[in-house]
Parts: sequence; structure tokens; C-alpha cells
Amino acid sequence: MQETFKAFRIHAGKEFERAGIETLTLDDLSAGDVVIKVEYSSVNYKDALAGTGKGKILRTSPLNGGIDLAGTVVSSTSEKFQAGQQVLVNGSGLSEVHDGGYSEYARVPADWVVTIPTGLTTHTAMIIGTAGFTAALAIQRLLDNHQTPEHGPILVTGASGGVGSFAIQLLTQLNYHVVAMTRKQDQHDYLVSLGAQEIISPDEVQVDSASLHKSRWGGAIDNLGGDTLAWLTKSVKPWGNIVSIGMAGGINVETTAMPFILRGISLLGVTSAACPQSLRKQIWNKLGSELLPRNIDQICAAEVKLEELTEAFNALLQGSICGRQVVCL
Ligand SMILES: NC(=O)c1ccc[n+]([C@@H]2O[C@H](COP(=O)([O-])OP(=O)(O)OC[C@H]3O[C@@H](n4cnc5c(N)ncnc54)[C@H](OP(=O)(O)O)[C@@H]3O)[C@@H](O)[C@H]2O)c1
Repeated sequence: MQETFKAFRIHAGKEFERAGIETLTLDDLSAGDVVIKVEYSSVNYKDALAGTGKGKILRTSPLNGGIDLAGTVVSSTSEKFQAGQQVLVNGSGLSEVHDGGYSEYARVPADWVVTIPTGLTTHTAMIIGTAGFTAALAIQRLLDNHQTPEHGPILVTGASGGVGSFAIQLLTQLNYHVVAMTRKQDQHDYLVSLGAQEIISPDEVQVDSASLHKSRWGGAIDNLGGDTLAWLTKSVKPWGNIVSIGMAGGINVETTAMPFILRGISLLGVTSAACPQSLRKQIWNKLGSELLPRNIDQICAAEVKLEELTEAFNALLQGSICGRQVVCL
């Protein structure tokens, strides 16, 4: 392995200080049993917040950014992994308490490492990344809570983003009727190509003090939070489920107990970073087999280099990105 290598390193103590390319040695990396030559990472909403200082994500500093990584094991002091194996790590503390994937090398605890599932490569695993993993986790939550296609259409908000794109494609594969909500007029064809059968605008979100609206959705996968999530609680059909994933539109949710006690709806959460490892492996294995995204090439996937990350973060936070950005190391 090279003695020195490049990484995109974030310095953020109480306040964000700076982020950019630095030259590191293995001794600079957080401790772990498995050293990985990183081939690909990806850009998620959380990465953009961390790398620009627009959100406080790091709980120790400095750290290499990147909540996802995939590559080849270089060395391992754990019996669970051997040099040459293709692996991935997502969430689990990367770029929060441990050096992340925006680095030519990473060193991580063996318990966080997932073998690349059959059906995926290090590249396709990072097109999926935390965004696709979280979409699959959300769908698992829906299924575990007895959501069926017969229950009615599933609304996916923040549809053209990473999580939204995968949620549409995977729900379609499972025979759900998917309605996509997007602000992007120019991405309707893209969303239809993923499987969306109807497209609505965020203008349809009703913001008022009513406790209930006409029930319309069998269920929902929500990336926005705020007023959108409040409206969803009031417009999901009896016994429907909403999975709350993100807060791109706000963190405060004003609703009442009425939808829960009169319609029996459920509001389910997901956290990909703190997902139990057994469930994480189960979801990745599904993504490599029965839930393998059928047309992964249809998910817009731009390729970016470490040097282009700041630009990639800004574009994502401005909402101009569609699909995923894969980082090539
Ligand atoms: N719970 C978890 O474990 C977990 C895991 C991954 C992601 N997340 C969260 O899930 C959300 C989506 O993540 P992502 O990686 O898919 O991000 P992304 O690629 O940036 O997608 C977010 C989408 O939300 C919409 N959007 C963005 N800003 C908005 C705003 N201010 N108001 C209204 N709509 C807005 C846009 O969709 P349109 O332009 O199509 O409307 C955008 O494409 C983020 O909040 C992220 O933090 C949570």
C-alpha cells in the first residue's frame, strides 16, 4: 500500500473550520481491524451538510468525510475478513465519529464491514449507497407493518433525490402504484422511467389547522419532514404507514392525535447510521438479490473526484442534483 494518500478531510470543532484535500498516512486514520483500499464512495445529503458546515454532523474532529465506502480489503487483523475481499461500509459512524470514505484508504472495525453482496459490485453498491440502502430499509418498515399494494398508492416525496429515486424504483418492482412528488418540472420523464405512475407538485401540500384531510395515499415515504410530513399524516388512508426518512423541508411537524386514533395510521422512523448490523446485512443482501434495483443504470449517477466534492455538495444542497453522485477514488 502507498505510504501517503489523499483524503477529503473536515475540520469542525464547535464551529466548522475548513474542509479540503490533505495528504495522510495510515497512522492518521481512526483505529480499526480492517484496512480497505477505497474504490468508490458517494454523496449523500448528510455528507453535503458535513462537508460545507451547513449541519453539525462530526462529533469528533478532524475526520475524513464520506458516510459510504466500497473497496478491497488490504489487510485485516480480524478472522472475519481477508486481503482481497470486496467490501462496503455505510453509516455506522463514518464521518461522525470515525474517518469516512472520502479517502484512498480507510481503516474500520470489522463489525461494520459488509461483504459486497452477490449481484453487486463496489461501483453499483455505491450508486445505491446510503440513499438506496435507506430506501430499502424504509420499504422493509412498510412491509413489516403490513403495507400491501392493494392498500393504495404510495407517495414518495423529494422524489428526484437519491433516496426518492431508489424508493420509486424498488416500490415499483414490488408492484406498488407509486406517485412521485417533485419540485423539478424537468425531471418528470426521469421519474416515469423509474416507475412513477403519477407525478404531483409540492403545491398540493395543504398547510392548515385541519386535523384530517381527504384520505388519498395508501402510504408514504417522506424525505422532507415539516409541513409535508404534517400533511401526510392527515391524508393517508386508514391503517396506512408513513416512513419518515428526512428533513430536507424542515424539522418541526405540526399535526394532531386524530389521524392516529381515528384512522389508525402509523408513523415509522428509519435511521441508516444506527441500523443494527444484522438488519444492515439482511438489507444489503436483499439489494443484491430479490430487491436488486432492476435498472440501476436509470438512476442518474454522476461521477465526481475528491477535488470536485465541494461543488458536488453545493449542487446537492441547492437541489439541482437528480439521482446520485458517486465518488471515484
Ligand atoms: N433517516 C436516515 O437514515 C436517512 C438516510 C439517508 C438520507 N436521509 C435524509 O433523507 C433526505 C433525502 O436524502 P437524499 O440523500 O436523497 O438527498 P437528496 O439527493 O438531496 O434528495 C433530497 C430531495 O428532496 C427535495 N428537496 C431538497 N431540498 C428541499 C427543500 N428545501 N424543500 C423541499 N424539497 C427539497 C429534492 O427533491 P425534488 O426536487 O424532487 O422535490 C431533493 O432532490 C435528506 O433529508 C437526508 O438527510 C435520512
